Amino acid sequence: MGTRPEAIKLAPLVKAAEADRTFDIQVCITGQHRSMLDQVLDVFGITPDYDLNLMKPAQSLAEVTSRIVTEVSGVIRHARPECVLVQGDTTTAFAASLAAFYEKVPIAHVEAGLRTSDKYSPFPEEANRRFISSIADLHFAPTPWARANLLREGHPESAVFVTGNSVIDALIWVMNVLKSDARLRRQVEDRFAFLNPERRLVLITGHRRESFGGPIRRMCEALVDLVEQVPDAEILYPVHLNPNVQEPVNAILGSAHPLLRERIHLIAPVDYVSFVYLMARAHLIITDSGGVQEEAPSFGVPVLVTRDRTERPEGVEAGVAKLIGTDRKRIVEEAIRSLDVSRSPSMTIHRSPYGDGLASSRMLENLRERFAGTGAERARVS
Ligand code: UD1
Ligand code: UDP
Repeated sequence: MGTRPEAIKLAPLVKAAEADRTFDIQVCITGQHRSMLDQVLDVFGITPDYDLNLMKPAQSLAEVTSRIVTEVSGVIRHARPECVLVQGDTTTAFAASLAAFYEKVPIAHVEAGLRTSDKYSPFPEEANRRFISSIADLHFAPTPWARANLLREGHPESAVFVTGNSVIDALIWVMNVLKSDARLRRQVEDRFAFLNPERRLVLITGHRRESFGGPIRRMCEALVDLVEQVPDAEILYPVHLNPNVQEPVNAILGSAHPLLRERIHLIAPVDYVSFVYLMARAHLIITDSGGVQEEAPSFGVPVLVTRDRTERPEGVEAGVAKLIGTDRKRIVEEAIRSLDVSRSPSMTIHRSPYGDGLASSRMLENLRERFAGTGAERARVS
């Protein structure tokens, strides 16, 4: 794993495998992200066996890809796993699967089969996940739609399994912790005591490469317009650490008129427990994130997706998510419309088209069956 979303989605699997003596699971982090990855490992109490610590400021795709392939190959030669698990569509997932392929180690792909059918959107993720599918041995599809995509591409039925998305396992785990640990819950509430409960909370995230430049700037301008036109809207924006995001967000939202600025909170990325709490409190989420699109239906909170296409149509079909692109005027109109019909936030978990919280146990069951009888007493999974 290398980035925040991979760690969130693999954490439940790591915890479940650690508790199961059938498996000897070893965690390798590439450190494609540093602080945003460490935040997740802290929450789930995961100590990596290998930390390649590869992140560089403003890293290029070519540079980070080549370093991951080389370094992960070394780890695979050292750990000699029976299977390498990769998650999603990041550079870490793609480069680690390529390293496993070169070492001729079976690959299991978690969250397989998502597609937009446009190789540049999202960039480079759509290509990454296609590359991974072409060399993976086991494909854990989160939904029937993702499975159908893989079968259409010619992958055999015997290698494709619908498991649900493990992000829902992670989310449910955090909600249970928040419900059962009153002290932690109070700490999180205190942390966000600056939010006015009389106002409607609009939670923002965004970081896609294809949005850099004009689209991010238009989104920020739209948020200023929104706060101007809706007097009880309050914006909370944990800003991704990518400099291509930081720069325009701080320039445009940071320089809004002081009367509006008072209702625009720009903060550093928050830990996963805090973010789950914020999603449960939000009246509206505006995002281009994949993970957030999957999580929002669990809270019944409307999501406006600032993209032209999505590889996650299930939320749109369920009526929770809407694709709105990046036109400034459209973002404002859609946000006002969504706020008008938004329900009061609650900590209740709703049924989700993305999973039921049992994805990790389905994947482990599958790995157990697949590796039983290979002669190994304990399947080594990295
Ligand atoms: C990466 C993934 C993207 C995923 C996203 C999740 C790729 C190509 N992109 O995008 O698929 O959705 O993570 O957030 O794999 N940075 C820090 N500290 C951090 C993290 C990032 O300073 O903890 C800064 C660094 O300057 C780094 C830059 O952000 O060079 C970009 O990081 P990178 O992993 O290349 O791309 P992301 O935009 O984060
Ligand atoms: N998230 C978080 N802290 C934040 C913002 C998001 O923990 O400040 C979580 C969010 O709940 C989701 C994941 O990070 O599970 C999404 O990561 P990101 O948007 O970086 O990547 P993507 O899902 O688009 O690949």
